[in-house]
Amino acid sequence: MREAILEGKFMELYSDLQPRLVQEDPEFPSVHPVRKRRPERAHELGSFELTQNPAGQYLIKCKDSGETMHSVNNPNKEADELYTSLFREALVRNPEKKTWTIWDVGLGAGHNAMSLLHFCQSHPNWGDESFPKINLISFEKDLDAIRLVLMHPGYFPHIRHAAPHSILESKHFAAGSLEWNLYEGDFWSIVSDQRFSENSSKPDIIFWDPFSSETNQNFWNEEAFAKIYSMASSECSLSTYSTSTWQRIQLLLAGWNVYEGPSSGPKNSTTRASITPIQQWQTQLLKQDFLKKVERSQQDNPRFFEQIKAENGLDRLFKHPQFSL
Ligand SMILES: C[S@@+](CC[C@H](N)C(=O)[O-])C[C@H]1O[C@@H](n2cnc3c(N)ncnc32)[C@H](O)[C@@H]1O
Repeated sequence: MREAILEGKFMELYSDLQPRLVQEDPEFPSVHPVRKRRPERAHELGSFELTQNPAGQYLIKCKDSGETMHSVNNPNKEADELYTSLFREALVRNPEKKTWTIWDVGLGAGHNAMSLLHFCQSHPNWGDESFPKINLISFEKDLDAIRLVLMHPGYFPHIRHAAPHSILESKHFAAGSLEWNLYEGDFWSIVSDQRFSENSSKPDIIFWDPFSSETNQNFWNEEAFAKIYSMASSECSLSTYSTSTWQRIQLLLAGWNVYEGPSSGPKNSTTRASITPIQQWQTQLLKQDFLKKVERSQQDNPRFFEQIKAENGLDRLFKHPQFSL
């Protein structure tokens, strides 16, 4: 080639060699890998679909009821402030307690359960002997919501952990002193089953997160709250997103002490309840002004009150010990 350049014959040589240089090796032809396009991940599964809140966060919506899980706030923030906070505060009140049983009623997209797990695993005493045993029990009748979330880890940071995979595969996850079990099926049938009550300790903390009373009516009446009251430990506390006067009446009639809960996003209050009065929540306890509100709502919604009047409910409500404190 050098010679050809010196003799001024490079172009001649080039035209001669070029077709051979670009020739394929017929015995070992080069293979250019075809880039596979990732299959589109489904945005819906069974009764659930992805949706976004105004801040652009992805959420899970139930197509049948039209209800969205953690719809009004950053879901992870809400899970922490509303549900995990219940355990955080209970730990401070009772640092000596060795075992905590926590019911996660309505696993849904797994925000509340994973919030609790993340809290425990980032606790300074996690892994120490001093950290209590945590027995987390989730209830869910339709696992498609968490399956859909697991298909989109990019949209749901809370799910990027081995635990939800294990929970879906084997209904069980354990790490350190935490054990997480999932009961699949109707909550009321599960907790009414003798085998469940024989094998499970009473809940000390309840995350009460079913859909609203329009969709999940049998979670929001006196009978429902009386049933979980009868199953809970004496130091049990419960948290829920509802602020409805009607739901608070049902909790009170079932015997719970009822408090204003922490604010959550645009909601300036939520609801907490306890079996034994909690001194530290004294200032949030519903007081006489709540009863005045009940009287006013009676005038506005007489139909609602017919039933509880018939069951002597108003009398029982006004005589609830928390209003004589
Ligand atoms: C508001 S979502 C729960 C959101 C969830 N806690 C989270 O953090 O993502 C309510 C859940 O309750 C479940 N559910 C409704 N009725 C139920 C029942 N009878 N038994 C068990 N789960 C039920 C629904 O399938 C739904 O996933």
